[in-house]
Amino acid sequence: MSQKNMSTVCLLGSPRRHCNSDVLAQRFMQQAAVIGAPTQTFALSELNYNGCKNLFRCKNDLDHCGQSDDLTPVLAAIAQAEVLVLASPVYFTSVTGQLKLAIDRFFSFFVPDYPTAERKSRLTSGRHLVFLQTQGEPEERYFDMIGSFSASFSGLGFDHHHLVRASGVRNPGDINSDSSVLKECDVIAAHIHSNS
Ligand SMILES: Cc1cc2nc3c(=O)[nH]c(=O)nc-3n(C[C@H](O)[C@H](O)[C@H](O)COP(=O)(O)O)c2cc1C
Repeated sequence: MSQKNMSTVCLLGSPRRHCNSDVLAQRFMQQAAVIGAPTQTFALSELNYNGCKNLFRCKNDLDHCGQSDDLTPVLAAIAQAEVLVLASPVYFTSVTGQLKLAIDRFFSFFVPDYPTAERKSRLTSGRHLVFLQTQGEPEERYFDMIGSFSASFSGLGFDHHHLVRASGVRNPGDINSDSSVLKECDVIAAHIHSNS
């Protein structure tokens, strides 16, 4: 498959729509679409779903998550995606609850013997994870959230990581005064979709 057609799925983690992290995500996804990538965006705050219930059905008798809810088509889309975009504000030093519940469901992508298996994921490797982080506090106050998730996502096959981080953005619209961070979205989208 040519890089131009790399399917790109975005999860919006903020509970408020069209604010700072949504704007970053929209910018990235627009650029990806212009380049020719098929794109799908899911606003998690508009979906009804639970976190992982640790019933282990995805390991014992199914090859996918045993829960059936609004996250089911999202997980199916991610399984096919070559680029996964996660957009989230920092909430109490981590991602939002909405996004964390969804990430926990990615457990279903691991094979049953994942602790010992050489290939731990049901997904193909070589995929891209793009993390779009917004935070109200200045840059020095927090680390890059992608760091705490990087080993897990690499294990799932999302082994190329990219971060765009906007600091000091608190109120709706604040992001629009940071043109450099918006341009970063364009640059990373172009880089991913044009380098094979
Ligand atoms: C519940 C809550 C917790 C937050 N915790 C933090 C935090 O720990 N550090 C920080 O820098 N900003 C924090 N913020 C500010 C948000 O990260 C900031 O407003 C961000 O731009 C919101 O993104 P959004 O506009 O996409 O919703 C918090 C905001 C809320 C509502």
